[in-house]
Amino acid sequence: TTPRIDFHDGRSIPQLGFGVWQVGNDEAAEVVGTALETGFRHIDTARGYNNEQGVGRALAASSLARDDIFVTSKCPNQDQGRDATLRSFDATMADLGLDELDLYLIHWPAPGKGLAVETWKAFVELHEQGRIRSIGVSNFRAEDLEKLEAETGVLPVLNQIELHPYFTQPELRELHRSKGIVTESWSPLGQGGGELEDPVIGAIAQAHEVSPAQVILAWNLALGNVVIPKSVTPERIAQNLASLDVELTEDEIAQISALHKGEDGRQGPNPSEFGGHQGA
Ligand code: A2P
Repeated sequence: TTPRIDFHDGRSIPQLGFGVWQVGNDEAAEVVGTALETGFRHIDTARGYNNEQGVGRALAASSLARDDIFVTSKCPNQDQGRDATLRSFDATMADLGLDELDLYLIHWPAPGKGLAVETWKAFVELHEQGRIRSIGVSNFRAEDLEKLEAETGVLPVLNQIELHPYFTQPELRELHRSKGIVTESWSPLGQGGGELEDPVIGAIAQAHEVSPAQVILAWNLALGNVVIPKSVTPERIAQNLASLDVELTEDEIAQISALHKGEDGRQGPNPSEFGGHQGA
């Protein structure tokens, strides 16, 4: 079984989950079913992925008990602000077919909008009502985390950020550690940024007789992060789950961490620039 990481609110999350960014509704229904059959017990979606209905179909079709599956979704930028967030959350829950969500995240800080604090207060209300079990954020920078804390006194349990061997987020991980916030890694395989072909990773994969993807995931897990690889390929879904069994040495972990390229390693949008006036 997948190890769990504790939140500061008393709950916990399966450390390895299944991500469905860029997966269509019908495909999501199918691959989430495959992921659950393979042994994944944590599914990460978002309103902005336009596949919550498909995820909901897979959840409804599964014979697993509700509490054996951990489900995350996210409030999109265009639904920030108190009332829009409450409406968006209802739509998410209707599509997922759930009464309670395990984890709800503000998808981006969207600094140009200036609504993250209002959105967060709506999250706190939904949490107090018991409709969301744990509340967190995604793509938040240090300044965004500090603003939430200063203005509401409520810290997110987790921050889901871009994190892979070429972009390892050392400063943010240290800030999270100091505040008791769990780090979650999106695009753990680097979205085709070259990590899967990196010679350092290739040599470690050969030594362990596993794939480069498994080495990258094992490294991320060894750092203590929650990791949510996406794949629509059944063999890769199984391979990714099996990365839990790959044990790297301290030296191998350090070699991979040293691949960090700083800002040059970033593949996704910069949260400082994203979602303000773009309606993303
Ligand atoms: P596919 O979905 O076609 O199987 P990330 O989670 O970092 O965004 O990476 C997702 C990308 O990595 C997808 O293109 C996915 O392809 C690919 N991928 C997922 N798992 C593996 C794996 N075990 N080996 C190689 N590529 C993988």
